[in-house]
Amino acid sequence: MAEETTKSGIALVTGANKGIGREVAAQLAEQGFTVVVGARDAARGAAAADEISAAGGDAHFVRLDVTDDESVRIAADFIGERFGRLDVLVNNAGISGGIDTLVPSTANPGAVRAVFDTNVFGVIRVTNAVLPWLLRSMAPRIVNLSSSVGSLSIMGDPAGPFANVPASAGYAPSKTALNAITVQYAKELRKDNVLVNAADPGRCDTDLIRGVGFPSPRTAAEGATVAVRLATLGPDGPTGGIFSETGAVPW
Ligand SMILES: NC(=O)c1ccc[n+]([C@@H]2O[C@H](COP(=O)([O-])OP(=O)(O)OC[C@H]3O[C@@H](n4cnc5c(N)ncnc54)[C@H](OP(=O)(O)O)[C@@H]3O)[C@@H](O)[C@H]2O)c1
Repeated sequence: MAEETTKSGIALVTGANKGIGREVAAQLAEQGFTVVVGARDAARGAAAADEISAAGGDAHFVRLDVTDDESVRIAADFIGERFGRLDVLVNNAGISGGIDTLVPSTANPGAVRAVFDTNVFGVIRVTNAVLPWLLRSMAPRIVNLSSSVGSLSIMGDPAGPFANVPASAGYAPSKTALNAITVQYAKELRKDNVLVNAADPGRCDTDLIRGVGFPSPRTAAEGATVAVRLATLGPDGPTGGIFSETGAVPW
């Protein structure tokens, strides 16, 4: 699909020290964005920003734990003071929460809450903190890293591609909720020309996916491309959807 794109400006990527977030940050920097590398660990976040800068990009580390109001507020203040606006927010930070404590019939509510705190409430926390700076952009874009495991129609199909994925009260429902939140932000912010979409990167070889025992030959860099495409949509791009590299993912 040929689309007009927006390829410069200021971008914040959460959880950008490794995995898909690290690759989204690097690819946006390659396209000419100034990238703010959000990470909860200062040493690993600064190292990722240094690597992107060493490759010719303009990258700045900011400490950002999406579960911590104070950390998010300080990161938003940094962006406002340093750049005065934000063009792209990529809500990438996420956790799986593991499998054993999240089997629905025996799930520990605290473990479920921890997954939602990062994967859902973290997105709301960060988005709302930086929204004043996004609203100063000529072409604001928000991309939420979701997954087709959050698709109720795909997950509920006993003959579907996730038939062998263990049932979970945590990760998959958190992505379903994230998809719903994405639609609601798109609905509210349509009047402000903010395009808000969810990205399904596909199953990629990262610590998150290795940790739950589903290795994949697909690289984090390959997974990052759909998020980068949604982050650089032109003015007529979609809003309120979830997209993989092959197109719209069903709800
Ligand atoms: N890999 C896949 O196959 C796949 C498929 C679909 C969707 N996704 C989504 O893609 C996103 C990135 O996942 P990934 O596979 O790249 O996983 P990953 O390699 O484990 O990276 C996750 C990133 O999120 C960060 N993070 C976790 N909790 C955080 C918090 N409270 N505050 C700030 N950062 C936090 C991690 O930081 P630390 O290094 O400090 O832990 C890390 O930078 C996630 O939202 C995931 O659900 C992944």
